[in-house]
Amino acid sequence: MAVRAIAKMGNPVLRQKARELTREEILSEPIRALVRDMVETLHAVGGIGLAAPQVEESLRLAIIEIAAGNDRYPSMKEQELLVLFNPKVTVLDAATQEFWEGCLSVPELRGLVARPRKIRVDYLDSEGKPHAIEAEGFLATVFQHELDHLDGTLYVDKLVSTKQLMFLDEFRKFAAGSPPVAD
Ligand code: NI
Repeated sequence: MAVRAIAKMGNPVLRQKARELTREEILSEPIRALVRDMVETLHAVGGIGLAAPQVEESLRLAIIEIAAGNDRYPSMKEQELLVLFNPKVTVLDAATQEFWEGCLSVPELRGLVARPRKIRVDYLDSEGKPHAIEAEGFLATVFQHELDHLDGTLYVDKLVSTKQLMFLDEFRKFAAGSPPVAD
């Protein structure tokens, strides 16, 4: 197991469309090791989501975990560790909601992004079995942020306005309110 380095904006891997994995790959030891590394990396940085391109693996794989009592997200509902392979998003309610977002690949910034408020995600789990999960509110934004990484999209591409992009220390002084999303 190893904590991986996080690719930052400017690294081309973050702008590539990641490829799907076969069921055989999902079950393979190298991919299992990658998932373990991603979980360890997520825990090391205290994030709530991580996509494989962020550790320089251009694969359609992301993990999401909101631990109970995460002190950076005290009001967030717990979400047990989800490992999502080849996820597909379907919008269930296109009405948008705004949250402040952050990203491990875009450090020290927060930006306001509007996204559909309710979605369904179809994906394969670590055993290659299909699942569907519905998410709304903050969790819907977390999913969409993470899964955008698989298409080479960063939250800064989707800002409500560039006037709503802030350095974190200034954000804390002047704009704290709705919860930011960090991954
Ligand atoms: Ni991100």
